[in-house]
Amino acid sequence: MHLGRKTLSKFLIENVSGTQDGASLAALLVDVAAAVKAIAALSGKGALGGPMGSLDTINVQGETQKPLDVLSNNAFINTFQQGGLVAGVASEELDDPFPIKPPHKRGPFLAIFDPLDGSSNIDSNVSVGSIFSILLAPEKGLPETADYLQAGTRQVAAGYALYGPATIMVITVGHGTHGFTLDREVGNFILTNPNMSIPEDTSEFAINTSNERFWEDPVTRYVEECKAGKTGARERDFNMRWIASMVAEVHRIMMRGGIFMYPRDTKDMSKPGRLRLMYEANPMGFVVEQAGGKASTGRQRIMDIEPDQIHQRVPVILGSKNEVDRLVHYHEEYDAGTDKPYESPLFNERGLYRS
Ligand code: AHG
Ligand code: MN
Ligand code: MN
Repeated sequence: MHLGRKTLSKFLIENVSGTQDGASLAALLVDVAAAVKAIAALSGKGALGGPMGSLDTINVQGETQKPLDVLSNNAFINTFQQGGLVAGVASEELDDPFPIKPPHKRGPFLAIFDPLDGSSNIDSNVSVGSIFSILLAPEKGLPETADYLQAGTRQVAAGYALYGPATIMVITVGHGTHGFTLDREVGNFILTNPNMSIPEDTSEFAINTSNERFWEDPVTRYVEECKAGKTGARERDFNMRWIASMVAEVHRIMMRGGIFMYPRDTKDMSKPGRLRLMYEANPMGFVVEQAGGKASTGRQRIMDIEPDQIHQRVPVILGSKNEVDRLVHYHEEYDAGTDKPYESPLFNERGLYRS
């Protein structure tokens, strides 16, 4: 038990609820935490919670839904509907956003979320998570789809929950990134990781290398240099991880640094990336930047993208600042036609390119 330690509610009262809007935002984050606790309890039951496997339903992404995807989506929607703090919600699992209608009360925010991230990991009992992004709603009327299409820089709060050995919630309202651990017996989130900070340098990268043949040259160059280790251009050994739950990858990077890449590839030309801007890339970009890291497509800061669709996909490169900068620089050189093959000795740590 954590008697005397700071709960999420206390943290929000002290740090967020100073203004009227702040008080509403603090209350909304308490609602998010309530949904997260419900999903933690559901996911923690594993096979005891009901059938696992896949449903017959396919979401708007063309992905087969799992029971926990749907249950988690319902947990968020019910919480937001009852909470009276949002005017509308958009989710990975909903074709279109939907406005909150009477008898439910509408509030000043829009909530966009990935209710269950990493769902391919559910059946194998590997960590999954939830990701959320909070925007301001239009002041009058029911929100329309266009109202959700705001650049990531306009987020008023964002965060993720990780359902791992411990349930963790990490949030930002634009003043640093802060981590809370669920005290399961008591039911409180306790502030365990204030002012999280991503190390600027790292020797750990995360990418799904089964897609290697579809990558663009700058990404191939970067990864080949990492794999070459001490004997290659980087002159040091790198380590690799791939969990296939973005939340778990981002949390590892928050704790010890690293670079996460789901880059643009040519696997399916209709999709410029795997991950979704509004409920994966933008909220993670906000959390990472507030912890001193960077988040880019390789060619643009993620949070500067002007969205044109709720479910649009973007390339994502995020994590330790100096490694993201390096890969962005490789994209610049490639686009300018001045890049060199990764084997070149000119590109070692003491060579032409220095970050
Ligand atoms: P979701 O389960 O919400 O659809 O998201 C899964 C995402 C992300 O969490 C992860 O990084 C990526 O998909 C894994 O993709 P691959 O299976 O292609 O590695
Ligand atoms: Mn996801
Ligand atoms: Mn999902």
